[in-house]
Amino acid sequence: MKNAVTQAFEKYFQDSPLYIIRAPGRVNLIGEHTDYNDGFVLPMTIDRAVWIALRPRADYQVFIHSLDFPYPAAFNLKAITHQKGWSKYAKGVAWALQEAGFHPTGWEGVISSDIPIGAGLSSSAALEMAVAKAFSMVSGWKFEPGIMARIGQRAENEWVGANTGIMDQLVSAAGQANHALLIDCRDLSIQPIPLPNETAVVVMDTATRHSHTASGYNERREECEAAANFLGVSHLRDVSLEEFNMRASNLDELLRRRARHVITENARVLQAANAMSANGAAQMGKLMNASHVSMRDDFEITNDELNIMVNLAQSQPGCFGARMTGGGFGGCAVALVQANTANAFVSSVHAAYQKATNLTPNIFVCQATKGAETVR
Ligand code: GLA
Repeated sequence: MKNAVTQAFEKYFQDSPLYIIRAPGRVNLIGEHTDYNDGFVLPMTIDRAVWIALRPRADYQVFIHSLDFPYPAAFNLKAITHQKGWSKYAKGVAWALQEAGFHPTGWEGVISSDIPIGAGLSSSAALEMAVAKAFSMVSGWKFEPGIMARIGQRAENEWVGANTGIMDQLVSAAGQANHALLIDCRDLSIQPIPLPNETAVVVMDTATRHSHTASGYNERREECEAAANFLGVSHLRDVSLEEFNMRASNLDELLRRRARHVITENARVLQAANAMSANGAAQMGKLMNASHVSMRDDFEITNDELNIMVNLAQSQPGCFGARMTGGGFGGCAVALVQANTANAFVSSVHAAYQKATNLTPNIFVCQATKGAETVR
């Protein structure tokens, strides 16, 4: 990826790039739809990323060639207008920076990504963090992960129109090699958590897709807000399981299931972080399996393919646990497996899934990498 964006830059601009930036995608190990409920999440970055090779411009133009789409992003920072396609993420970040009082200036470059789009691996958050990093380099401010993640989230919420939480941008900005991050989405505090010894994380892309502006994502968020409102709290984070059990019978049946997912999931994330820190792969796996059931039955964000993939994964030797990951309604599942069985796991699940669905999945072992960075 680094070579591809560098060579393309040289071709387009007859010069070497001044900076090369990468921002990784992520896989969430546990804690789904808890971030916008002010709760806990445990994502890790993956070794797939958005890359940008660039140089500053002396004016307010931004010009980004894409190696993945046939059209560039081209806009003037003094007059940003709405447009369909991938450039909306770059424009949204520029807009949100200005709204927050930053003074972004122009640059030009080449972008490319190897994060599958719409798969639940945060291709858009990685794009936002790469663009924010690019602006921070050319316009001269320190890339502070929490602040830049909020900028990306605002771009997503108010410019793109997907009412997503803070998890994806924050892990892409603040990721650490070989660690997942336990994030408290209320105060954005972060605790790096290593994977249990001799385990591997496997991402399993079902080859089905979501779109957060079109899927039930925004609807789920509204349901959580309605449940919090009914329970008299600002966010479901503030309801304990005991309290919920005492009061749940008064809640509408649908909202009760939605809230139960969030409240039990928050508890599972904290248990999972403890299990991982204590090398408890088996315990971590059990929590992942329970999380999947909760997303399937209570939160209703899985599809048939995700359920098939997770069942197949869970039945393989050496698999500690598996669940769907990300916003849902399609995309990827994730499994924690014994490291020395990982290759066999990948090929067995691939064959079994293809046979069961007639779809060709993309299944790969992944490693946690550093968050948004300038590699040159
Ligand atoms: C998407 C959103 C995140 C989070 C997850 C679900 O990835 O961008 O903010 O809500 O879905 O956990």
